[in-house]
Amino acid sequence: MSQELWSQVDGYLAAQYLEQDDLLEQVIREQEARGLPAIQVSPLEGRLLQLLVGAMRAKNVLEIGTLGGYSAILLARALPDDGRVITLELNTKHAEAAQAAFRATGVAHKIDLRPGLALETLPKLRAENHVFDFVFIDADKENNVYYVQQALALSRPGTLIVVDNVIRDGDVMNEASESPMTQGVRRMNDFIKSEPRLMASALQTVGSKGYDGMAFMLVVE
Ligand code: SAH
Ligand code: DHB
Ligand code: MG
Repeated sequence: MSQELWSQVDGYLAAQYLEQDDLLEQVIREQEARGLPAIQVSPLEGRLLQLLVGAMRAKNVLEIGTLGGYSAILLARALPDDGRVITLELNTKHAEAAQAAFRATGVAHKIDLRPGLALETLPKLRAENHVFDFVFIDADKENNVYYVQQALALSRPGTLIVVDNVIRDGDVMNEASESPMTQGVRRMNDFIKSEPRLMASALQTVGSKGYDGMAFMLVVE
């Protein structure tokens, strides 16, 4: 099995399940033109996030890691008119690209981008008494354990927390890994194991983004 095959199958499935979307394709092109890395969720992964948000009738979504706004736009589109996405982004260049993309796709009124370090913004969201139905964690993997802890503090029973990039070509298995990202995911997994309020699973995936996966956590009490 090869990356080429995984990408072809992703392309086939996307052509079957997803509608042609010129606005979104323009967002990707603009992201590239501005020199941002092409590490956004794949179209099918984005649709999975939309299915989850729609299934739970979420209204308040938190995203950690905006990049050029691709996943935030998909999350916003999955929400009702009075739904809101708060998305956190450290990099000013990324935040500017995302704000332009939110305007271009007509979802700016549903998205509140908070610039700065997520670890500094999250306590502010608590002080503002935000409670989120759905949280998507997709930023610096080194801080994943803190992001899950903060997400839990901003949750209610029934909140779903999704974390991207938790497999990393299987490196998550490697306790001696020298990758700070892997060690960040492993610390998160130790926290999940210790935390009875989280019911968790993870899926290993192959596709256009290689061999990786997402973790899913339901806040149960
Ligand atoms: N969710 C996006 C991809 C996010 S890529 C999508 O699928 O479209 C990860 C992003 O997290 C990058 O833009 C990076 O600048 C941002 N990031 C990294 N460290 C951060 C931090 N400490 N606080 C906030 N954002 C951070
Ligand atoms: C990277 C980050 C991501 O969020 C992703 O989905 C893929 C790659 C990275 O930092 O390499
Ligand atoms: Mg990611």
